[in-house]
Order: sequence, then C-alpha cells, then structure tokens
Amino acid sequence: MNNFTFNVATDIRFGKDRFEELAQVIEKFGKNVLLVYGGGSIKKNGLYDRVLKELAGVNIIELAGVEPNPRIETVAKGAKLCAENEIDVILAVGGGSTIDCAKAVAAVHGSSTDQPWDVIKKRNYDGPALPIVTILTLAATGSEMNRGAVITNWQTNQKLGMGGQNLLPKVSFLDPQNTFSVGKYQTAAGSADIMSHLFENYFNVTPATDVQDGISEGLMRTVIKNCPIALAAPEDYDARANLMWASTLALNGLTGNGKGGTWSCHAMEHELSAFYDITHGIGLAILTPRWMHHVLNEENAIKFAQYGRNVWGITETVPMLAARMAIQKTYDYFKACGIPMTLPEVGIKDDSKFEVMAKQAVSYSKIATEAFVPLQVEDVVKIYQTSM
Ligand code: NZQ
Ligand code: ZN
Repeated sequence: MNNFTFNVATDIRFGKDRFEELAQVIEKFGKNVLLVYGGGSIKKNGLYDRVLKELAGVNIIELAGVEPNPRIETVAKGAKLCAENEIDVILAVGGGSTIDCAKAVAAVHGSSTDQPWDVIKKRNYDGPALPIVTILTLAATGSEMNRGAVITNWQTNQKLGMGGQNLLPKVSFLDPQNTFSVGKYQTAAGSADIMSHLFENYFNVTPATDVQDGISEGLMRTVIKNCPIALAAPEDYDARANLMWASTLALNGLTGNGKGGTWSCHAMEHELSAFYDITHGIGLAILTPRWMHHVLNEENAIKFAQYGRNVWGITETVPMLAARMAIQKTYDYFKACGIPMTLPEVGIKDDSKFEVMAKQAVSYSKIATEAFVPLQVEDVVKIYQTSM
C-alpha cells in the first residue's frame, strides 16, 4: 500500500428531514448566498420551495440551468454573479453537474481571472475559494464529498477534470428522500457511475490493498442489490439511502487512497461526453465490459476472478474462466438495469471521431503509462469500436 493523506473534512448531514439545520449552516458562512441548481428538477419535486422557505433570512442570488455535463459558460456566469453580489457561500442543490459547477465557480471567482477556461485547464487549483454547501439530489458522482469537478468546453470539445482541497464541500446534506424523484435512466446511470468509481480503484496494480478492495467489494454488492430495488420502487427509502451513501464513499478517497496508477474508463468516457454530450454513467456502463475484455490477460485474470468470487459469488476456480464469467455478469447487470449497452443506442452512429477522441483520451490522462493495463490510442479506438 502506498503512503497517503486522508483529509476529507466534509461535514455530512445524512438522513431524513434535516432541513431545519440548513439555515444555521449557511448563516455561519454569511448572508449572501449563490444558489446553484440544474434544469428544474428541484422545482418539480418541491425542493426549491423548501430551500427558499428555510433560507428566508438570507440574500439569495440564483445560478439556474446548470447543464448535465456542465459548461464553462455557466461557470463564468456564476463567477460573475459572485463578484457582483459579494457572495459569501455557494449552495449547490442537485446532482454532480450542479455541485461540480459550484466548485468551478468558486475556483474561477477565487482566481479573479477573465479567462475561466484557463483555471479548468490547469487541472489543480490551490487558490482561495468560497465555501461550498451541497444538497445532493442524485446518487452518482461522489462530488458531495470530494475535491473534483468536471467541466465541458464545447468550443474545443474538451471535458476536463479539475480540483483542489479548497473546493471540498464544507457541508453536504444527504437526504435519500431527495432522490425519490430521480427517473429510472438517471438512477441506473448513477449506479453505473458508482460501480465505475469502484472498478477504477479496484483494478489497480498497487499490491496489498486489502482494506480498499474489501470496502470496494462491499460497496459494489450494495449497488448491485439496491439499484434494482430503487428502479422498481423509487420511493424505497433504504434502497435510496444505500445508493446515496455508496456514491459518497466510492469516491471520497476511501477506496482509492493508498493506490497509484490512473483510471481507464473515465478518460475514455469523458471524450464520449465531450463530443456527443451523453450521460456520463451510461457511457461508462457501455465501455466498462468492453474495457474489461480488452485488458484481461493471464496475469490479471486473478484479480477479475477475485471480483467475480467476492462480488458475484462465482465459484469457478480457473481464473480465466471465472474472470470471463464476471465480465459477462457485469454486462448483464447493466443491461438488466435498463441501460442501453451500445454506442449507437445513445446516438453515436459511426466511428468517424474515434481516432481524435482516442488521441484526446490519451493526451489528457496517463492511461498510456499508468493504467491498470496501459492503453495506447489504438487500444482506445478498439474499445470504442467494440462498443458499437
Ligand atoms: O438539471 P436537473 O433538472 O436538476 O435534472 C438532472 C439532470 O437532468 C436530473 N436530476 C438530478 N437530481 C434529480 C434529477 N431529476 C429528478 N429528481 C432528482 N432528484 O438528473 C440529470 C443528471 O444530473 P447530473 O447532475 O448531470 O448527474 P450526475 O450526478 O450523474 O453528474 C454527472 C456529472 O458529474 C461528472 C460527470 O462527468 C458529469 O459531468 N462527474 C463528476 C465527478 C466528481 N466531481 O467527482 C466524478 C464523476 O466521475 C463524473 O465525471
Ligand atoms: Zn464517474
């Protein structure tokens, strides 16, 4: 296991009906609040009204309409609002896109720059940032308890991750009831994203990480069990609660710290979203089993077999056979959750952009040198092609 620092000081307020704590939390940071939210789901499910009611005593400025795969223009707009209104704290109410946008707004505002994309392009942000409070409405990214944000630039077809310790949310409200209204597609996509965060950390070359791997296996089983329940019964509190907490723990450092290397499927998926604006978790579900097949070899079959045994209960003892069965289980599971499992089904009808996307995936990440199995441009193209 490698050395690591685990300093994730987000104050998590998990559970039902903790709204009465919101005003107190916000007022600790100041009176001028930038309320960031998406395309209107919070207005439909009543959350918006409840937030306004709870925060009747503070001055609220709104940044509405954050896109899924949030865009740099929206970030720039938010940073401008912060400067014009002397904002003290950013309150993000939504899924990963809304929270990521809030983080990027804090970074761009803190940089006092008129070139917002430069802040994202730098990838690491260690400057000052307004405090961020979140109310999570979708179990998926883990953004509610991590330092990262992913922002898209449509001018350049780039979708880049950035982050920094000062962008870690100060407080996150995790009320599973706020995810009751998430539709089947986004519930499945969010669950696939959680699974992918766990896979990305699990399939890793650093030896002797039993703690991280054991936690990951438990979280994978949790998602596998609870996503179908939430799909069938969207208001099943316990299923939503388990998905929500799994999303947070899958990407707050718990399963990734102590490991080296780099992620594979996320680098490839970000290009699908950057060029075709598809849903992140869906892209991951499509790519993951193809990636697993592509990288499987005699040496790493044992790790896939471990995954099969501990997550799927596969009893086959020949590692390569068990590994293949585990990969098939992964594919079948995503399909059973209703995820369209080919690229044409999500509107990517031809392979004309695969080469340029693969080049970007390789150049914006370290997958060519540090991945579980290093991937060159031709490998990425192949994985895209086998996803057709
Ligand atoms: O925009 P609204 O109207 O709110 O609707 C959203 C959106 O259409 C809807 N939704 C959210 N909560 C809802 C709801 N609908 C009904 N009821 C609710 N309670 O769901 C749709 C998707 O929302 P979005 O925030 O885009 O989803 P998600 O949480 O999956 O976030 C995806 C973004 O996060 C990035 C992805 O790349 C993508 O841009 N990621 C961020 C990470 C991080 N910060 O650590 C890591 C991830 O790997 C990921 O890359
Ligand atoms: Zn993800």
